[in-house]
Amino acid sequence: MILWGAYVRASGSGAGCGAHWPLCNGVVIPQSAQAATMIEFTHRIMSGLSVLFAVGLVIWAWRSYPRGSQVRLGAGLVGLFTLSEAVVGAGLVLLELVANNDSALRAGSVAVHLVNTLLLVASITLTAWWASGGNPVSLGRQGINSTLLVAALALVVLLSATGAITALGDTLFPAASLAQGVQQDFSPTAHFLIRLRIYHPLLAIVTGSFCLFLALRTRDRQKEGLAGKFAAALIACVAVQICLGLLNIYLLAPIWLQMLHLLVSDLVWISLVLLAAASLRQPPPPESSPSRQPPPREAVNLPADRGWGKPGPGSDGLQPLPETQKASRVCARGAGFSWGLESTGRTLPGRVRF
Ligand code: HEM
Repeated sequence: MILWGAYVRASGSGAGCGAHWPLCNGVVIPQSAQAATMIEFTHRIMSGLSVLFAVGLVIWAWRSYPRGSQVRLGAGLVGLFTLSEAVVGAGLVLLELVANNDSALRAGSVAVHLVNTLLLVASITLTAWWASGGNPVSLGRQGINSTLLVAALALVVLLSATGAITALGDTLFPAASLAQGVQQDFSPTAHFLIRLRIYHPLLAIVTGSFCLFLALRTRDRQKEGLAGKFAAALIACVAVQICLGLLNIYLLAPIWLQMLHLLVSDLVWISLVLLAAASLRQPPPPESSPSRQPPPREAVNLPADRGWGKPGPGSDGLQPLPETQKASRVCARGAGFSWGLESTGRTLPGRVRF
């Protein structure tokens, strides 16, 4: 849906349903076979489906997890950011900030739309992380690590917002050649969307270098842990993204490359969010603590990760099992994977997890 949204913008189809929302050209199902209408209408169908999925996720989280659970928090945020995404999208259509509109209000709106998308993606990522047994995140305990990670998250959000404005400039004022594009970028009389284009690559150099530094630092400190793996993913995504960005300028941003660049920017973001979640997770409470969270019925076992997050002694990074279920967990580690046998006194007599 995110990629299709970029396609709607890049193909100039944002006005395909006129200034109507939620109806398309005043009707529920458009009769016109125009390409722009079909492209915009498809995006609306996808957004309707994503609202249904978000509602389903919230209901599932509330039914499966207890009050105060991180999974409920994550799912609630998914519901919230899905709604705000729909409101921003509807605002773009109703205020006619689409097609050839080149106002500052449109530039600001596409940046806000993209930032909301990132917050939605982060919420989905964290919901999956917590539903898989990841511990809650704590910013207070990690000192410089928290500061570096929060700075990296903020820089990637800012970089992506400038990218959305650059993409709008490329769509509305396509350059005929690389030389003409560069000349326009530095012309004081050029439209502000053209003059702003230069800032995204510059910020990308700063942000990319910072993310690489952070990821290499993490990987050096914990090669085996989950944080180390997310750091390796971040390094790969940033390296690919910088190549795609350079190619974008060289090829004058064709639509397929814009979509690919956007896809990889989401992968950069997801890797960074997971790196932050794995690095900043709280140590699990001691065995006897009454504040422990019961795990979901279908909890997924995650490999152990010791290091930056400094989980407590003997921790495996999973939510502890509830006292009431008299649970016991026996883990054996083999070559390349770990598996465990868990028995609970109540709902599940026994199960093997890989
Ligand atoms: C980690 C690094 C980067 C991230 C996270 C990132 C993110 C983004 C995002 C989110 C967009 C908007 C996409 C859209 O709305 O369709 C964008 C656009 C753009 N970026 Fe980047 N970018 C990065 C690096 C770079 C680099 C290094 C360059 C050039 C040297 C570059 C050049 C461009 C150009 C030309 C566009 C407009 C065309 C398009 O939409 O693809 N980017 N970027």
